[in-house]
Amino acid sequence: SGSLTVGQFAEKLGRPSTDIIKKLMALGVMATKNQDLDKETVELLAADYGVSVEEEVVVDEASFEDEGLGIDEETAVIRPPVVTIMGHVDHGKTTLLDSIRHTKITAGEAGGITQHIGAYQVTHDGKKITFLDTPGHAAFTTMRARGAEITDITVLVVAADDGVMPQTIEAIHHARAAKVPIIVAVNKIDKPNANPDHVMQELSEQGLVPEDWGGDTIFVKISAKKGTGIDDLLEMILLVAEIEEFKANPEKLARGAVIEAQLDKGKGPVATLLIQNGTLKIGDPIVVGNTFGRVRAMVNDVGRRVKKVGPSTPVEITGLNNVPLAGDQFIVFEDEKKARQIGEIRAERALITERKETTSKVSLDDLFEK
Ligand code: GTP
Ligand code: MG
Repeated sequence: SGSLTVGQFAEKLGRPSTDIIKKLMALGVMATKNQDLDKETVELLAADYGVSVEEEVVVDEASFEDEGLGIDEETAVIRPPVVTIMGHVDHGKTTLLDSIRHTKITAGEAGGITQHIGAYQVTHDGKKITFLDTPGHAAFTTMRARGAEITDITVLVVAADDGVMPQTIEAIHHARAAKVPIIVAVNKIDKPNANPDHVMQELSEQGLVPEDWGGDTIFVKISAKKGTGIDDLLEMILLVAEIEEFKANPEKLARGAVIEAQLDKGKGPVATLLIQNGTLKIGDPIVVGNTFGRVRAMVNDVGRRVKKVGPSTPVEITGLNNVPLAGDQFIVFEDEKKARQIGEIRAERALITERKETTSKVSLDDLFEK
């Protein structure tokens, strides 16, 4: 068994440390933020906040959160890159993804606008690449704000007839903040008014200097609509992946992030997960954000039922007790009891935070009513 400080305990409850210190003072205990709490005190305090805690679980949870994805460099093997396509409105993100998959996503979408995040896997030269279809930059920011770092490479789509626009610059900022390499796809080169040199010039001003001009940014000229340059782009993605050496441990229990989730009338909570480490299997006990369950069924990106999936693979699962949020992290446990305990603690903690937010909102409203 490990130790738990006042500060760590406060964080778990979603309360300020001063709250805990005040409570301890009321119990006649003078404590500081970095002081260790004994088991009895933790239980006493937890009961006071209406939370039941088992010491073992508290310690376990802290340790897996510190581990992140739990990648063990010693035994890690190469995994497919996870690519996000970003760019300004109408510059051709969906058409590009569509072109890559040789399917017709744009035609099926309401108004041709991306409605939600999907994730798909393709094979090029015998190597897999995972693509995320972002509906805009909000998704990227939401994911990162929730702690999920899922993108390995960003393909920045810039229309050659339009040039660098506000969301192009936003995308560059997001990719840089996440320390994700950028490949530029200069799109719509089939258009008579296309001016790829102008795009290269504008992006150089943003610090993305083409290799041809002595810089180190890969530029690929494409027409997503005509399918021109798509193979070159895929090759460049695989080249960057080879240099960066993205790795994972397929033999481990799975960890990763939620791409999207919703409630299905028939199936219950449904979540698209991206496996970032390990292998996810049917029957696995799983904690996802503030919910938990057991993986009941898995469907891959082409709608086929699968029994297990490895690193960088997107998969839709059922079997959760509740609907998680995009960007939530998930973790598989060996035994269901532990998954349930941690899931319940997290759900209770979320409820406490929610209650606290509601309370402060009400009092603020009261204030303004006067
Ligand atoms: P949002 O999801 O709304 O941000 O747009 P998007 O970036 O996904 O753009 P989308 O793929 O929907 O393309 C916008 C328009 O540009 C559509 O009418 C496409 O047919 C057109 N388009 C995309 N790529 C090309 C291209 O390479 N050449 C030409 N001529 N048109 C293209
Ligand atoms: Mg789109």
